[in-house]
Amino acid sequence: MSYEPRIVAFLCHWCSYTGADLAGTARISYAPNVRIIRVMCSGRIEPSFVLKALREGADGVLICGCHPGDCHYLEGNYKALRRYHMLHGMLGQFGIEPARVRLDWVSASEGDRFAKLADGFTEEIRALGPLTWKDHLAQAEGRAS
Ligand code: FES
Repeated sequence: MSYEPRIVAFLCHWCSYTGADLAGTARISYAPNVRIIRVMCSGRIEPSFVLKALREGADGVLICGCHPGDCHYLEGNYKALRRYHMLHGMLGQFGIEPARVRLDWVSASEGDRFAKLADGFTEEIRALGPLTWKDHLAQAEGRAS
């Protein structure tokens, strides 16, 4: 059986979710591997949300918000960007390839861009293979006991 990556996508309500919705209404197909979670703003996404998604079975996490300067809460996407850089620095220490987490910007009119992003990210995660973080943790715990 071929490997199908599981991708969790956190999308801000005002731009990126609407962009993904536009892809749907415009009948632009994209990888069915992407499971969308809508949040009001990308600034709402805490690093713990991303780690929880990875811990509970996601092989990759996509975070999308309004383009810089367009956040409906003024600076939420800048907050998301700062958190993203911080999280990226930590992922390697957890034994997770940083490429498994991506932040990007999608406006409400960019259904096509969202579809391309979802497809491209899915293929990148497919190339990385399944996340074996749980196995790493189990081995680390086994060594520690
Ligand atoms: S409302 Fe879209 S990133 Fe803040």
